[in-house]
Amino acid sequence: MDKPLLQVALDTLDIPSTLKATQALAPEVDVLEVGTILCYAEGARTIGILRALYPDHTIVADLKAADAGGTVAEIVFSQGATWMTVICCAPYATMEAALETARKYKGDVQIELYGDWTFEQAEQWRAIGLTQAIYHRGRDAALAGQKWTDADLAKIRKLTEMGFDISVTGGLNPKDLVFFKEIPVTCFIAGRGLYQTEEPAQAARKFKEAINRYW
Ligand code: 5RP
Repeated sequence: MDKPLLQVALDTLDIPSTLKATQALAPEVDVLEVGTILCYAEGARTIGILRALYPDHTIVADLKAADAGGTVAEIVFSQGATWMTVICCAPYATMEAALETARKYKGDVQIELYGDWTFEQAEQWRAIGLTQAIYHRGRDAALAGQKWTDADLAKIRKLTEMGFDISVTGGLNPKDLVFFKEIPVTCFIAGRGLYQTEEPAQAARKFKEAINRYW
């Protein structure tokens, strides 16, 4: 099993706090994500700023796009994004359009698994050519008390068996990672568990320690 990567989800609210976070975290993580909240707050220019500062990092635009796949993909890939996300309930046509544009930039599209979706849909996503998905425990669901369960593990395993690279996210802290230790997770994504800590770089090292211990 390959070692999972570590991704920081920057759900910061403005450019200065984003840059403060990346200054500490970029040397420690594999992937920088311009989070959905930051996309709303500061827009796609944030991607261009991070690309200029971090030319070698994988940068994700977490748009959770639901429509206009080609248009929004053009906006973020032309700013330097490596990957962008589409929401799992988006029409297949939106996913195809986003993927076509992503490929023009040698980028890729990830499906955000939120709420209700089926393995029949997942077969279609594979048929379209999508190979990356993000298994997500939503912020509001976690606040409402939703825990990680064996049912989550079974779904993640089945998706990996279908050929998906799976990222896992949703209120993660280093101590949560042991729960996924039997699973070939491609990437763990953490937001508040990294940038909202007193020592973000140290928090990232704790995530990496957990990854090295269990994979
Ligand atoms: C919310 C997201 C977040 O970026 C992702 O869940 C990681 O954030 P956190 O670790 O703070 O929960 O996509 O929609």
